[in-house]
Amino acid sequence: MSKRVALITGGASGIGRALGEKLAERGVTVVLADRQLELAEEVAASIVARGGSAWAASLDVRDAASFRDLAAEVARREGSIDYFFNNAGIAIAGEMLDYDDRAWDDVLDVNLRGVGYGISAVYPIMVAQASGHIINTASMAGWLPMPRGASYAASKHAVVGITKSLRIEGAAHGVRASVLCPGAIQTPILLGGTFGGQVGRRVPDSVMKKLWKRARPMDVNAFAVEVLKDVDANEPYIIVPRWWKAIWLFERVAPRMSLRLWARVYAKQRAELEAAAADPHPAHTTDAPVHAE
Ligand SMILES: NC(=O)c1ccc[n+]([C@@H]2O[C@H](COP(=O)([O-])OP(=O)(O)OC[C@H]3O[C@@H](n4cnc5c(N)ncnc54)[C@H](O)[C@@H]3O)[C@@H](O)[C@H]2O)c1
Repeated sequence: MSKRVALITGGASGIGRALGEKLAERGVTVVLADRQLELAEEVAASIVARGGSAWAASLDVRDAASFRDLAAEVARREGSIDYFFNNAGIAIAGEMLDYDDRAWDDVLDVNLRGVGYGISAVYPIMVAQASGHIINTASMAGWLPMPRGASYAASKHAVVGITKSLRIEGAAHGVRASVLCPGAIQTPILLGGTFGGQVGRRVPDSVMKKLWKRARPMDVNAFAVEVLKDVDANEPYIIVPRWWKAIWLFERVAPRMSLRLWARVYAKQRAELEAAAADPHPAHTTDAPVHAE
């Protein structure tokens, strides 16, 4: 098979990193673009040490001009962009009552504008090639309510809408588009990540971990393997872990019942957060990753 090239934003960590590593194992040249350049360089070096082809690039997805420059550089250096994982994202947890402007602006700037800028940078190159696949990372929060994560849910609902539209427009040019909707995956973002965080009363990491554990976070490498199967199949909606498809379907066919279900989940969560806040001896907090039971 001829040479294939993938550009991955957020490629230094978590999902972007795992996708890069798995693609490199398949012989794809990967470009890991991230605000965390040093980390991206370490990942690229480890891929190269294992016999793969990879390089790192500094990118802040909020900078449209830099995005265009990088996309042009990748196409020039490598000859094509076959896969574009428009994946960088952040999350800021907290109630809307506690939101400051940052809780809206930062999340929408990275997760929504950044995705739009990425499409503007890469899509024309793919149209000129008459080939390529854009995979925008949304979330199950792109379909479901996310109390304590409204700006995140807003950005991810938008990414679902963008991708559905792009899939239809892109088909006329030979360009594919899919939306990646992870459930909960074991990555740093579950505890805020490097550029996200919380507003309002700070919830200790130990409590956050306990709450996330219930969503059975998936190992990120196993996740990447499943995602790439769906990319190969040109699935429009890539939902992994697979069991989230039942929840997705329930939301689509019974939206009012789904709201009632999520209201119950939220009430339970609120009660636990209140109890944790009242605890005079909060559990020790660490930055260790959240693990499924
Ligand atoms: N982990 C999950 O459970 C989960 C669930 C649903 C959706 N997602 C989405 O998956 C994507 C990847 O997240 P992850 O879980 O790998 O988290 P992560 O924190 O491990 O990785 C996010 C990466 O994005 C980079 N980044 C952040 N802001 C950036 C910017 N302005 N410009 C360039 N790079 C930037 C970070 O440096 C980091 O390397 C995000 O869009 C996230 O919203 C994750």
